[in-house]
Amino acid sequence: MCGIIGFTGSTNAKNIILNGLKSLEYRGYDSAGISFFDENAKINTIKTVGKVDNLLKLVESNKAKSSCGIGHTRWATHGGVSNENCHPHSFLHVHLVHNGIIENYQELIKEYNITSTERKSETDTEIAAILLGKFYEEFKNDPLKALQKLDGVIKGTYSFCVLFDDKPNEIYAIRKSSPLVCANTTTGSFLSSDLTALIPYTKNYYIVPEMDIIRLTPYEVKCFDIKTLKEKQLEAQDLNWSPDSALKGGYAHYMLKEINEQPEALINTISTYIKDDIPNFDEIGLTDEVLSKITNIQILACGTARHAGLVASNTFAPILKMPVTTYVASEYRYSEPMVDKNSLIIAVSQSGETADTLAALELAKNYTDNTIALVNRKASLIARVAKYQLYTEAGPEISVASTKAYTVQVAALYLLFARMAYIRKTMNLDELKIFTSNLISQKEIIQETLKNEKVIKDVAKFLKFKNDCFYIGRLQDYISSLEGALKLKEISYIHTDAYAAGELKHGTIALINDGVPVICIDTNDKISSKLLSNVQEVKARNASVILIINETFVYNDKICDYVIPIKNDNPMFAVFPVSVVTQLIAYYTSVEKDLDVDRPRNLAKSVTVE
Ligand code: M6R
Repeated sequence: MCGIIGFTGSTNAKNIILNGLKSLEYRGYDSAGISFFDENAKINTIKTVGKVDNLLKLVESNKAKSSCGIGHTRWATHGGVSNENCHPHSFLHVHLVHNGIIENYQELIKEYNITSTERKSETDTEIAAILLGKFYEEFKNDPLKALQKLDGVIKGTYSFCVLFDDKPNEIYAIRKSSPLVCANTTTGSFLSSDLTALIPYTKNYYIVPEMDIIRLTPYEVKCFDIKTLKEKQLEAQDLNWSPDSALKGGYAHYMLKEINEQPEALINTISTYIKDDIPNFDEIGLTDEVLSKITNIQILACGTARHAGLVASNTFAPILKMPVTTYVASEYRYSEPMVDKNSLIIAVSQSGETADTLAALELAKNYTDNTIALVNRKASLIARVAKYQLYTEAGPEISVASTKAYTVQVAALYLLFARMAYIRKTMNLDELKIFTSNLISQKEIIQETLKNEKVIKDVAKFLKFKNDCFYIGRLQDYISSLEGALKLKEISYIHTDAYAAGELKHGTIALINDGVPVICIDTNDKISSKLLSNVQEVKARNASVILIINETFVYNDKICDYVIPIKNDNPMFAVFPVSVVTQLIAYYTSVEKDLDVDRPRNLAKSVTVE
């Protein structure tokens, strides 16, 4: 949460920082700010509440030239959304931006006698600025020693980008747990919370190591060991995303673009792990020898990633004939988990940054070496903590509502579990080949489903006026309901709940009356009649029924207000077309309500706080 960026070089830093903030805006967007050296080597700071566009207008009216500066887009934690609480925060020679939380800021206020006149904001970040300002004076304007001392006294998570007003063209940074990458190019040096801001400028970057100090000048990036302050080498990394992958590419919103990218994302992900027509994970170290020792699987994740885990665990536990359980990472991290050395832990995360998922993984690592990061972001925090890295190849996902990441997470888990079923002899070679080819064929099924827009747009026009909505389904369709409900409430602000269809009559059916929309998912031939009975029950209470159903199933169209047929030969794979439908329902409802689809209120893409 919060996006930070720094640039020093030979060209207009203000533009580079503002463009960078636009691409980092999905990390937080309640306020934004920038500090930069002008042509007289004086620091200018401009900040405002609201989105980066508000900041852009203010910066446009400032005519100063600049080739070095830092910027921030905020997701409020400590202190409300106000100009005073915007970053950068300044004190004496120091101007800094921060991503993370300083947990001991109250103690630091007491310990260092920070007065109320020194404080201009309610933020934890400002305490770091004040301390660093004081330490900088204490160490006679030595940035390295001042940062070393700051790092020694603060507790929590942080990445800081710092300007010292007597060091023009230099930017300093430290980090702990919060992400930060940097790069040096022919136009200058960059720091950024993540790679999306660097895509237009370079394919080579460095991960800022934890507990080291980084110094950027226009010509180089240097790294210093935070204990000895001696210079260290940085390890170069390559970025394989194309320069236009983080652009909207003609779509009205990132979310619509990302929904439409699913066929390609699916194939790119699974083809990495298919050899000779069957799943194979040897290249990432998950050999049959490693996998054959596993006796139970635990998936740790949050939000949509957790739903991906639930789909895979519920579908595969009976096939694998072993316990496969998906946990809410924020609960797991404070629990006493039942993990042993033969457990396989899979942390699922698009961003690879989610604080709760990371902490849950770290806890599980105390018990087993078998840890996998199933992440979309290469070399992200979670990827670096796990022993094995199973990367999804969805490309950058910018919209806060996760769509293509979900599809590829399910697909990757399916492939891994199918290989494990083969090793455990609960799936034979022929079955494995058929399974793999069915998974590949989901590409065409998703493409077909994307053509269903007409009826989905009608549904959105209907939902637009509703305050409440329900999703119901059974087995896998229940998990799809959970994900559909999350997506709808997240971007349309319609209160939406998901129920296992059989549970409705144990209380919740009291809420169903005239015109309440109930979206019913029916893709499993074995239990279709049961689901359709539940549909009858809600219709009998005058609900408005929206039925997402396998196109070959028989149903009573008199009880349906809208029907969205989907292609599907096997209930195991129904999640792929169904999730496309539920994503489009959420998307078009948000569009109908004229909401900010890609940046829904109160949210941020990477949840790096607990
Ligand atoms: O980056 P992650 O996959 O770890 O993120 C987990 C959740 O925060 C995320 O899926 C969230 O629920 C989405 N906004 C849902 O659309």
